[in-house]
Amino acid sequence: MSNETKMWGGRFTQKTAASVEAFSASIHYDCRLFRQDIAGSIAHATMLARQELITDEERDQIIKGLGEIEAEIEDGSFVFRPELEDIHMNIEKRLSEKIGAAGARLHTARSRNDQVNLDTRLYLREVSQEIIDLITSLQQSFVTLARTYLGHVMPGYTHLQRAQPVLISHHLLAYAEMFGRDKERLVDGLKRINIMPLGSAALAGTGLPIDREYVAELLDFPVVSANSMDTVADRDFIIEFSSSCALIQVHLSRLSEELVLWATEEFNFIELPDSFCTGSSIMPQKKNPDIPELIRGKSGRVVGNLMSLLTLLKGLPMTYNRDLQEDKEPLFDTIDTVSQSLGLMAELIAKTTFNTERLATATSGGGYMTATDLADYLVRQNVPFRQAHSIVGQTVAYCIEQGKDLTDLSLDELQQFSTAINDNVFTVLTVEGSVNSRISTGGTGLARVTTALAKAEQVLGIA
Ligand code: ARG
Repeated sequence: MSNETKMWGGRFTQKTAASVEAFSASIHYDCRLFRQDIAGSIAHATMLARQELITDEERDQIIKGLGEIEAEIEDGSFVFRPELEDIHMNIEKRLSEKIGAAGARLHTARSRNDQVNLDTRLYLREVSQEIIDLITSLQQSFVTLARTYLGHVMPGYTHLQRAQPVLISHHLLAYAEMFGRDKERLVDGLKRINIMPLGSAALAGTGLPIDREYVAELLDFPVVSANSMDTVADRDFIIEFSSSCALIQVHLSRLSEELVLWATEEFNFIELPDSFCTGSSIMPQKKNPDIPELIRGKSGRVVGNLMSLLTLLKGLPMTYNRDLQEDKEPLFDTIDTVSQSLGLMAELIAKTTFNTERLATATSGGGYMTATDLADYLVRQNVPFRQAHSIVGQTVAYCIEQGKDLTDLSLDELQQFSTAINDNVFTVLTVEGSVNSRISTGGTGLARVTTALAKAEQVLGIA
């Protein structure tokens, strides 16, 4: 393409090198912003006409032309041209081809610097809501499963060592809670995404009599940005969003790790749906948890994308610099990865079953998981906690030596360690006694979990 046909070709005498065009084009990825770009241009043209910077006829031609371009892109007939660099210039060029002179007026009082900022904000506003909805579906999977298994126990772990018995539902609701925070972060980020940048122009604003508030109203933004220089330089909202997504993917990786472990022969706590597992080409007996493994693995790229974006911004002077074009690939990759992972995980969780018998055996047999309950019992018998801890430690050592469980001990045996123990001790040593005693707010006691579950069902709209 000769430089006269480029939107910025006027001051150039040499043709752009083909290698430069190839290197600097972003159209192969920023084409995904076409809807936002067109919506922004329609609002901009509407404002320009209202301010009498273009005529009503020109506005109508622009809007009609943009509508046709949108249809062309949607039906695949639009030809994206790398020599036109990006989505903004591809659309504008096509508009001029279609409507002639009026097309050339669209870019009045606008720069690609504020335009790209607007497009990304419009896009992230939608995507944030989509990811919030995907998280809600995942939470619904947890909560539905928590209802199914209400009352069943499993070992709770610290240091990956059996620690205390918990309800399966309590463990599942822990994840619903964790992902709930992710939603809150996205909702909070929307406050800083939802700011209208157009009118900042290249960096300093414009001398033309535009009405930014009107554009904000048309595009449903609650506010316009306050400083034109900050606006075209700002990618904080992208970094915040990517950071929220990185944490979502890290949360998914923690969940994945548990699923992988629980599906092993060694744990055998859950059965993953066959439709989400794959076999081995050499070992016929294998059923591999590839989906949780891949989701866990993909946290690498999502965290990496966040690092790319932070590094992209580091040391960048005011205001717009072409470096900023590099924000989109990591951002889009993060969006695609997190969205896919959330969708798959919601389905996977919904189809996972718990091996309740195995979990009950794992909870009662071995591991002395009610040791803390015995200590708490002693505290209620007025023994200071540190002393109680030591008494129980000695009792457990005795159990290990005798090959017995705490529940196997007779009252006489228990009383060797403390005379504060009497025959009402046995209820606290059982798994049920242990679980159901934990009725402090947020605890695993059945009464607490039942209330927490009902609340989660209500918040998530589950009947
Ligand atoms: N494609 C560019 C980007 O994504 C649009 C803004 C270009 N502005 C400029 N002055 N070259 O950042």
